[in-house]
Amino acid sequence: MKYKKSHFYIENISAERIAKQFGTPSYVYSYDKIKININNFKKKFKAIDPLICFSVKSNSNLQILNLINKFGLGADVVSKGELLIALKAKIKPEKIVFSGVGKTIDELKFAISKKILLINAESENEIVEIENIAKKNNKKVNIGIRLNPDTDAKTLKKISTGQKENKFGLTTKKFLEILDKYKTSKFISIICLSVHIGSQITSHVPYKNMLNVVKKIIQQSKYKFKYIDLGGGMGIKYENRSKNLDYSKYNNLIKSFLKKNNSKIIFEPGRSIVGNAGYLISKITYIKQTNSKNFIILDSAMNDLIRPALYGAKHKILPSKLNRKKISKKHEFVGPICETTDKFLTVTNYQKISQGDTVVICDVGAYGMVLSSNYNLRPKPAEILVNKNLAKIITKRQKLNNII
Ligand code: LLP
Repeated sequence: MKYKKSHFYIENISAERIAKQFGTPSYVYSYDKIKININNFKKKFKAIDPLICFSVKSNSNLQILNLINKFGLGADVVSKGELLIALKAKIKPEKIVFSGVGKTIDELKFAISKKILLINAESENEIVEIENIAKKNNKKVNIGIRLNPDTDAKTLKKISTGQKENKFGLTTKKFLEILDKYKTSKFISIICLSVHIGSQITSHVPYKNMLNVVKKIIQQSKYKFKYIDLGGGMGIKYENRSKNLDYSKYNNLIKSFLKKNNSKIIFEPGRSIVGNAGYLISKITYIKQTNSKNFIILDSAMNDLIRPALYGAKHKILPSKLNRKKISKKHEFVGPICETTDKFLTVTNYQKISQGDTVVICDVGAYGMVLSSNYNLRPKPAEILVNKNLAKIITKRQKLNNII
């Protein structure tokens, strides 16, 4: 994660060595960085002793989930596939929560049969289905109800989930109605209030607003929730000048919330656990010079990493080898896909780089590989886990044979 004698290293292995040994494009994750992120997350919220359920959607690689389990986290899943892989990584069912607006009956049956901690229901119809399944099996199933607090997360519109125009959760009014209707059910037990207002949140203020709505609804309902699931959303620093979430302020807000409401807190972080632990190692296929800018055409593309094309996200792109010579011209890093939006980043004043050089796209550990596709019939990249001097393949590069 730093330059040693001008070469970029991930733990003790240089990006160039990875490129040579495993080919490009390749996703590379640092074992150490994941461990540090988990320990830091735990430390920041130590006083409230939360149950931390890693959001599997951000990175569902089995080996990464093995680390998540090894370091003591549970899982937040949103499909049968994610539930299966979390169980395969030996994450205990009593540490798994299941979220999502459209769980199918098959998914609900499966989750119930696995006795996971709780299912976060997002509509009355879903609760009816859960109750039916529970009744047929003569079981009492633990559920949470997701609240839509109508709170602006002050993040990208496309990754905001907590406003009334979003499909997620139930309005305060509906939440209270449903709570009242189902709190005495013989087949479901409402043990959790859940909420998640969005992703890449870098200010504690939206969380404060969200907690105020939660506080109010608890007061109004006079209901005792065993768990309050606050979701994830903690942002990371993609750009040097962007700001960081003040965890101590968020922690204090929760502490004061808990003084009046004695519940166990659940978090569902994804990005803050794995985001900055992943790198996409790519090679420069060509450099095309024009009067106004140089196009740096990489061998990775929007099918490998869609965040820039989909959200306008900016991921730093670092050279694998430093060069003191600067070129003061616009550089546009693009992929080879036949779409104008297949563009990673535009920078000025980049160092001198050449065709064949290796570059490192940073902070791609979350919502990177999981969002990759075979668009343009391009095989998906390999995934590599680096632990000190050891680099091992955790997903083989897709072969064209397997996709044709
Ligand atoms: N819990 C729920 C219910 C969620 O919907 C999400 C993310 C999380 C937890 C985890 O949020 P995190 O801690 O990672 O922010 N693909 C987008 C992000 C989509 C987030 C979807 N939900 C991106 O690349 O920015």
